Amino acid sequence: MNLSRPKSLLIGASGQIGSQMLRALGRERCLVTSRKSSSDTELVLDLATLATLADVEHIFDGYSIDAIYCLAGLTNVECCEDVPELAHNTNCRGPELLAQFAKARNLPLVYFSTEYIFDGNHGPYNEEDTANPLNVYGKSKWEGERAVLAACSRAVILRTTVVYGQDFGEKNYIYSLMRSLGAGKPMRVPEDQISTPTYNRDLAKAAIALVERGATGIFHVCGPERMDRLEFARSVAAFLGLDVNLLQGLPTSALGQKAPRPLSAGLSIAKLTRLHPDLTMRTASEGLADCHSDLEDFLRSCATLT
Ligand SMILES: NC(=O)c1ccc[n+]([C@@H]2O[C@H](COP(=O)([O-])OP(=O)(O)OC[C@H]3O[C@@H](n4cnc5c(N)ncnc54)[C@H](OP(=O)(O)O)[C@@H]3O)[C@@H](O)[C@H]2O)c1
Repeated sequence: MNLSRPKSLLIGASGQIGSQMLRALGRERCLVTSRKSSSDTELVLDLATLATLADVEHIFDGYSIDAIYCLAGLTNVECCEDVPELAHNTNCRGPELLAQFAKARNLPLVYFSTEYIFDGNHGPYNEEDTANPLNVYGKSKWEGERAVLAACSRAVILRTTVVYGQDFGEKNYIYSLMRSLGAGKPMRVPEDQISTPTYNRDLAKAAIALVERGATGIFHVCGPERMDRLEFARSVAAFLGLDVNLLQGLPTSALGQKAPRPLSAGLSIAKLTRLHPDLTMRTASEGLADCHSDLEDFLRSCATLT
């Protein structure tokens, strides 16, 4: 199939952020890949099994592309600890080959990264701060950042954190919270992980705008407020009329997680605000208000099932 009109290539469109990118760009403007199956509308690409640049060229041979957004990743932080090689291939080696492909075609590429490249000793972090990842996920993303930047001069490294909002996969933090509290069950929440929660639609919009404006290099793109997970969970619960008392704040050390977490983290968006003041990143209450009806629909569907 030869598509004459250039399209934006979305790797990882089925994920939380990818589906918001698809929504923001419009399906007709996108070329989408899927890890598992091909259809008339999707090409097959598994980042973990790409071996050479030729593998990437073969997949996109004949397709006209104007930008690449690499959202795909092995994002389960606990799982990454068990499969470091898979984490490396998915989060670093595959994106590096995509970046080589972008370089060869002279395309912009956005690689989505994370605050987990930092150790959480003194956030919020800006773009120049020194990385020191504590876990396999953070290390694989940090290596991915460096490999992508080295391979492609038109790359944007977009670091974000605690992304929330409508999620078709129903996986993000807010959905776990709605499932538990909606069913009257308690939920354990770390009270010492400080971050900057990010509304997914603002993130998608900013990523697209950065490409359209020819930005390159590292950008932090997240919400403007720094808060701990318990504080965030409480605002979500209160906003949705759920029982805030079901939230049990605990130190991270009591959660028995395998992967160490950065605690005093969060990202500063001073650079984004200075260079692109019109790219507004909404506060948690503004973001929640924007996706309120989607969240209400999910809560209703949970109630129907119980
Ligand atoms: N969500 C956050 O809070 C957050 C915070 C910081 C950074 N990020 C970064 O932002 C990006 C998007 O996050 P997200 O929350 O949208 O992730 P997500 O919901 O977990 O989606 C991950 C996407 O990656 C795809 N994928 C996984 N392994 C793959 C492979 N080997 N080859 C090709 N595709 C693969 C998945 O496809 P399948 O449907 O086939 O599994 C899915 O489309 C990630 O790179 C993540 O590191 C996210």
